[in-house]
Amino acid sequence: MNVPFLDLKAHHDPIKAEVMAAIEEVIDKNAFAGGPYVEKFESEFASYCQTEHCIGVGSGTDALWLALLALGIGPGDEVITVPVTFIATAEAISFTGAKPIFIDIEEQTYNMDPTKLESAITPRTKAIIPVHLFGQMANMDPILEIANKHEIPVIEDAAQAHGAEYNGKRAGSMGRLGCFSFYPGKNLGAFGEAGAVVTEDEELSKKIRTLRDHGQAKKYYHDVIGWNGRMDGIQAVILSIKLRRLEKATEARRRNATIYDHLLKIDSRIVTPHQGPNRRHVYHIYSILVSERDLTIEKMKEEGISCGIHYPLPLHKQKPYKQDEGSFPVSEKCSAKFLSLPMFPELSQSQIKSVAATLRNCLSEESAVNNTARQKELNL
Ligand SMILES: Cc1ncc(COP(=O)(O)O)c(C=O)c1O
Repeated sequence: MNVPFLDLKAHHDPIKAEVMAAIEEVIDKNAFAGGPYVEKFESEFASYCQTEHCIGVGSGTDALWLALLALGIGPGDEVITVPVTFIATAEAISFTGAKPIFIDIEEQTYNMDPTKLESAITPRTKAIIPVHLFGQMANMDPILEIANKHEIPVIEDAAQAHGAEYNGKRAGSMGRLGCFSFYPGKNLGAFGEAGAVVTEDEELSKKIRTLRDHGQAKKYYHDVIGWNGRMDGIQAVILSIKLRRLEKATEARRRNATIYDHLLKIDSRIVTPHQGPNRRHVYHIYSILVSERDLTIEKMKEEGISCGIHYPLPLHKQKPYKQDEGSFPVSEKCSAKFLSLPMFPELSQSQIKSVAATLRNCLSEESAVNNTARQKELNL
């Protein structure tokens, strides 16, 4: 059976007529850059995230960069984050002139390891960016406790975690600022590029609003040097339509993950995702760990099943952020074994069964040896 990694057409077909009518409305009202549809979405998304303010911007990368700029971060500063993330997290830091400082991830959740945080703090540390990787929130309580003790603001990179929860609190609502991406493949995806920052802090929200619009609070009166980081009206109106269906889609992802778990946990060659206590994982990506990952992906492809790797190299092994091999052992170990299986709300039970059966057929017997050892390590 052919199974795509992502099926955006299946996701969009049921809302196509509604989307086309909404786009027509934006065209008729000339509300293209910013404007009433962006404001409407901002207010809806703020309330979805349990925050007071939401500022729509051009992308998730813009969201992170503008959040850092609003906190006054620049050359000479350090920002602590993880090497297992999409490169945008580090790029946003670098583009303020500050330096990303990496710390390792937890072996079970693949998120920032809070036990590594305090020793990485220096007098130059001006922010901490935990990334809610794959749709699961990082262990925010200990992270916030350390951050508060040192009076360092936390920016959540929630680009992959729309609607994820930690002790009932929504992604984006726990740090000083939360940053989201609405890249088309995300759990809440636009029909192009878009992003948002959410916050409880009115001062910061005003700063970001000004920065995203050329430093102007009033047209052509510029208070600071800003940028064009606005969300466009067409994306906003589409995001409003999709936001109304997000909870149902998230529950479908969670149901699909449970079926995968059930079919794969029994196989000692596979490590399935671990949902931490009191978390709501929203499974933007369903990533397992397997030995001989690249060979397995090739074999799956031959059987018609598309998989992904998020991400093949941790950032400290990428050219712009090169550090010594072995600097972050957990990140390196996991990155070598990550394999993302097809995951989207419309995935059918028979597709999931076919993916699971094909995967188990594609894995060699030898890979059992390595992974049994790992599962014991993880106490799974
Ligand atoms: C963890 C993370 N941070 C930031 C981004 C950047 O978002 P965008 O692609 O909308 O700029 C992404 C997007 O893939 C992401 O996954």
